[in-house]
Amino acid sequence: MYKINDNYLKLPGSYLFSTIGKKVAAYSAEHPEKQIIRLGIGDVTQPLAPAIIEALHKAVDEMGKAETFHGYAPDLGYEFLRNAIAKHDYQDRGADISEDEIFVSDGAKCDAGNIQEIFSVDNKIAVCDPVYPVYVDTNVMAGRTGTYDPKTETWSDVIYMPCTAENGFAPELPKETPDLIYLCFPNNPTGSTVTKAQLQEWVDYANRVGAVIIYDAAYEAYISEEDVPHTIYECEGARTCAIELRSFSKNAGFTGVRLGYTVIPKDLKQGDVSLHALWARRHGTKYNGAPYIVQRAGEAVYSPEGKAQLKEQVAYYMNNAKTILEGLKAAGYTVSGGVNAPYIWLKTPDGMNSWEFFDYLLERAGVVGTPGSGFGPSGEGYFRLTAFGSYENTVAALERIKSM
Ligand SMILES: Cc1ncc(COP(=O)(O)O)c(C=O)c1O
Repeated sequence: MYKINDNYLKLPGSYLFSTIGKKVAAYSAEHPEKQIIRLGIGDVTQPLAPAIIEALHKAVDEMGKAETFHGYAPDLGYEFLRNAIAKHDYQDRGADISEDEIFVSDGAKCDAGNIQEIFSVDNKIAVCDPVYPVYVDTNVMAGRTGTYDPKTETWSDVIYMPCTAENGFAPELPKETPDLIYLCFPNNPTGSTVTKAQLQEWVDYANRVGAVIIYDAAYEAYISEEDVPHTIYECEGARTCAIELRSFSKNAGFTGVRLGYTVIPKDLKQGDVSLHALWARRHGTKYNGAPYIVQRAGEAVYSPEGKAQLKEQVAYYMNNAKTILEGLKAAGYTVSGGVNAPYIWLKTPDGMNSWEFFDYLLERAGVVGTPGSGFGPSGEGYFRLTAFGSYENTVAALERIKSM
């Protein structure tokens, strides 16, 4: 008789977004006249930029003619896209990454979830707390995390690195040595970042202890400060210890189009075994490539027009972030993030816990955000607002919050 992968049964229910949905639906039913403003979502709202639409149309037309039709894409992605990525995202920033170290995919979530497959189940992972849930949950599915303690909401075999106001929401080097370290900067949910010197410490540490850093840079486009690294490969020695995950979702609005990539340098080796070769094998066996049409759209992200239009789009969201940040500060809230990231992390007032503040904000202002405790125990007492709404809604939400 067959057996299931019972690691799945260990996963605690993810109540965060379903609970939010239920609470909002109940409130709407009770107050049908109230217009709810949603600043909880991590999804973009602006339409695709004209340069991208143009590239999509052109590629669709190519698919309609025998001479320019494209079937299966190359395993690792089309060269035109990998060349553009290598040049614009790495070489122009002084980072030594070549096009054959880039694996094009349909987004960072899949890569973040799948990358653990090339590592032994005996490896110990370290994650930030609070954290984007995909890193931990996919390791639970693989059987790498031990047992779950519902009281502390932690796994026995996971090393948690609290990111708190005391450490500026940047993790400290763990006391226990991990094998795999998940880092995400600019961070979801806290909106924090690290300086290049801080990231260099992580790279040095990983090389020293023989760990691999899985570096999620999905929000790289939102960096505005000079000293914040755009890629981990700006750090010396990262080629021997780091894998980087990137997404077109937040820099170019591809959440519904789907495109991302993973970088594995050829110098990243365990003995004679190259992780690049393992991932190439995995990619070739389990993945048949992002669509040609979408990869052409991705190429347009790097065209001069595409770059200019997307800079404006990111600036639009970051203007929302500034509006939220300054509005909340003026209203007396303790806030962080929102400078190099589209996320604002606020301390709940008057000792309210995250869910109490969620209810309070919904009841009093008709504004929806995300309770920090949903991202991990250190998120308790915090709340996430996002800059991905429209400017008009963002301003209206802040007016309501100020007059609560
Ligand atoms: C930290 C982080 N990584 C990855 C993703 C997913 O990116 P993609 O849309 O490319 O799958 C998200 C999406 O919200 C995210 O917040």
